[in-house]
Parts: sequence; C-alpha cells; structure tokens
Amino acid sequence: MTQRSSARPAVLVCRAVFPAALERLEEHFDVTANQGDELWSQEELIERLQGKQGAFTTGGERIDAALLARCPDLKICANMSVGYDNFDVPAMTAAGVLATNAPGVLTETTADLGFVLLMAAARRITESEHYLRAGRWDRWSWDMLTGQDIHGSTLGIVGMGRIGQAIARRGARGFDMQVVYHNRTRLPESTEQALGARYLGLDDLLRSADHVVLVVPYAAESRHLIGADQLALMKPTATLVNIGRGGVVDDAALARALQEGRLAAAGLDVFEGEPRVHPDLLACTNVVLTPHIGSASVPTRKAMINLACDNLIGWLTEGKVHTPINPEVARP
Ligand code: 8YV
Repeated sequence: MTQRSSARPAVLVCRAVFPAALERLEEHFDVTANQGDELWSQEELIERLQGKQGAFTTGGERIDAALLARCPDLKICANMSVGYDNFDVPAMTAAGVLATNAPGVLTETTADLGFVLLMAAARRITESEHYLRAGRWDRWSWDMLTGQDIHGSTLGIVGMGRIGQAIARRGARGFDMQVVYHNRTRLPESTEQALGARYLGLDDLLRSADHVVLVVPYAAESRHLIGADQLALMKPTATLVNIGRGGVVDDAALARALQEGRLAAAGLDVFEGEPRVHPDLLACTNVVLTPHIGSASVPTRKAMINLACDNLIGWLTEGKVHTPINPEVARP
C-alpha cells in the first residue's frame, strides 16, 4: 500500500495496476493501492473506501446503494472495463457519484478473441491438441477431428455495438462470410451496408447462422437470453461463442445441448457465476474455455487502465469527464 498525506483528493485503486499508472495517479491524489492484488469482501471494500473521493474499479467491485450510503465522500467510480454490470447506475446517480467505463480501447482486441474462440471451436483446435498430447495420433483418417468451415459460412452476431461490429468486419472482409445480426436497436442502413450485415429477429438468426457470436451485456432482461428453447433453434452443426457476459447463456442448458450433439461446439470466455465454471461444461470436449481474457493483450489492458485514470484525474482535478455512464451527474 502506498499513502501520502496532503489535502489532495484520496483515491482507492481496488486491484493491482501497472506501476506507471499508479505513479500518474500519485501525481494528483493520495493513493491507496492494492498492488498485492488482494480480493476484498464487500465489507473490506467499504472500509477501504472511507474518506475516498475516487475509486479505480474493475468489473469485480460491486458499487450499490448499500455501499454508497456508507461511503458519503465518494464522487467517482472509474471502471477499467467497458461492461458495468457491477455498478448500480441509478443508485450512483441518486448519490451524485459519477460512473465511468472504458469503451473503445478494447474493441479490436476483444473482437480478435471472439474470432479465436469461433475458429478454435468450429475447427476443434483444443480437442485436436489434447488428442495429440495424449499420444492418440497414430494414423490419418478422412474424418479425424473434422469440424465446420468458417469461410463462406453465415455468421450471426447478437449484440451489434462496437465489438459486434468489429467481429462483423472480420467475418465479412476476412472470411467472406454472410453476416446477419440482432440488436435491441437496428443499425442505420448506411452502417449495415458498410458492414455488409443484415438485420434479423433473434429466432431467425439462430435458425439460419452457422456460427453465432454473443456480445451482449448482462442485465436482468438479457439473463438466459440463450436458453434451452433458443439452443433448440440452432443448427446441430453450429458453433456458439459467448464473449459478452456470463448469465446471458444458460450454461447448464448449453452443456446439455453440447453433450447430446444438438450443437456442434461452443467457445466461451465468460460464465455464469465466474470464476466458477459449470462442471458439465468442464466435462464437455466440444467446448473451448478461456478465463475472461477477451481484452487481455498488454497494450489494451494498459489502455483500459489509462482511460480509467484519465477519468479519475479529469473529474477530481478539473471537473472534466471522458467516458461517463451517467453524464447527468456531471451537468451543473
Ligand atoms: C475486463 C470486460 O477484463 O471490459 C469488459 O467489460 O469484460 C473485460 O475486458 C473485465 O471486466 C475487467 O474489468
């Protein structure tokens, strides 16, 4: 922990960050850091937030009404992630606490991971490697570890924000795919044309796509958006990829579909109740599993951390907001 005393604003950095980011914050604030990267209980988080005006948060710290009531000095929570399902935004707005996230800087890196999972799942890469390492590769055969094609197939994207659009570009331009998408709001026609993407209702998309990529944020309305009924609509040769949030897919229903051969493969970076993973998914060989590493390239993680720092410094030193979630707090 590093601390300096002065009349400067006090800021809590909830998880470890790269040292230069901390040095930057220390130029402006009294910083309490967690470079040991301890995981705190909610009570420990509240204790450590006492007297703090700012908090650097990851997607892992829950900022809710109960916490806000006990942290009256708090003025800003700056998430280093684009998703902010850890924030109760109406409660933060009511308490006059600015909420910021980190959009834009992780778009391409996360889209890359979406494609990695899609290709690895459809072409059975993890399974192939396990097969080889287990010494089972003793001959060639025409159908050994055969999967499905990516190129020229139909790519369905559910959630067509920045990351969804970056995946669409990869599919249409890199792999000659027909791109269909579903989103709460349909994109302007000019954007659809530029991306080469066609809008479909969710059920039609699930029926027609060869590969489906989910980039949907978690909210009460998106919980189990893909459950047993939706999985039943998909082609048995299809691949399902989730790089959005855990809970958008009913993981138990997905494991059943994979085990029963009603779905060919899945690639998952996010899970219901992560870091726990449903044991039935762990038992499936036709699923590629990664531990929420969508944005995990060194330059991107540094950019995310820097953007959260920009938000803290901007708001607490000059009342300037970069990427607000509740801009109404910032209005005079
Ligand atoms: C983060 C993410 O790694 O930005 C997001 O929404 O899911 C990831 O990129 C994670 O949330 C850590 O804060």
